[in-house]
Amino acid sequence: MSIIEFKNVRMAYGEKVVVENFNLSIEKGEFVTIIGSSGCGKTTILKMVNGLVRPVDGNVLVEGRDTRETDLTMLRRNIGYAIQGSVLFPHMTVEKNIAYVPNLLNKRDKKRTEQAVEKWMNIVGLEDSLRSRFPSELSGGQQQRVGIARALAASPDILLMDEPFGAVDEITRGSLQEEISRIHRETGITVLFVTHDIGEALKLGTKVLVMDGGSIQQFAPPREILHAPATDYVRKLVEKERRRCHLPEEKLGDCEYSGAI
Ligand SMILES: Nc1ncnc2c1ncn2[C@@H]1O[C@H](COP(=O)(O)OP(=O)(O)OP(=O)(O)O)[C@@H](O)[C@H]1O
Ligand SMILES: [Mg+2]
Repeated sequence: MSIIEFKNVRMAYGEKVVVENFNLSIEKGEFVTIIGSSGCGKTTILKMVNGLVRPVDGNVLVEGRDTRETDLTMLRRNIGYAIQGSVLFPHMTVEKNIAYVPNLLNKRDKKRTEQAVEKWMNIVGLEDSLRSRFPSELSGGQQQRVGIARALAASPDILLMDEPFGAVDEITRGSLQEEISRIHRETGITVLFVTHDIGEALKLGTKVLVMDGGSIQQFAPPREILHAPATDYVRKLVEKERRRCHLPEEKLGDCEYSGAI
């Protein structure tokens, strides 16, 4: 069953049309990476999933229900949203930030919330000593990890990530990539992950969505994107990565991109 479905969606901000005749089905448990030129509508697509923006026309279904007819609070409880930049509550400690949603869900069961905070800090690789720090006292990479832990702490079925690893160094990025891949494997969560880095898109995705000018260029597993680029846009996008792979065409299947690290 599709966990997310866009049906003939048209989305515009005033006169500015972002997507039109947009159709996409995402299966439960898929890790979809989304890549495409700046302004092509990637963030808008994520925001339509959790109802932050509404399509002008067409339907967005999440777990079979039209988002237009779903209570937004209920919808968002099941959807984690990790975005780039400073999105943490600045007046709350790391612990309080991560505990925010579990607190709402667990009401007075403090022990359960504490356990959730400990578990997720551990999973995203945050030292326990950072618990009582405020966001302004953390590095950019640590802030991003808190953002990811906070999005995951509610145990959502769907995780939306908008360029979550943009502001970190290569090594931290590599370890965050491994962590998110492991979380995906272990929890079966459905992930939509926007990135500007084709290497990252191919490495993390079980499927890659390539967008340009508001339309889908290709939606396929990483191997297929590399083996059989559907358009010139995709071909150009993957060319550099194919060279980096140092493999002849027929051997590309042996490349590191198999949908998981
Ligand atoms: N609130 C808004 N009001 C008007 N136009 C908007 C609004 N949000 C986005 N847009 C426009 O809609 C288009 C798609 O924006 P969107 O943020 O989805 O792009 P994106 O693919 O995420 O880009 P980037 O890679 O730069 O983050 C852009 O042309 C943008 O300028
Ligand atoms: Mg964006």
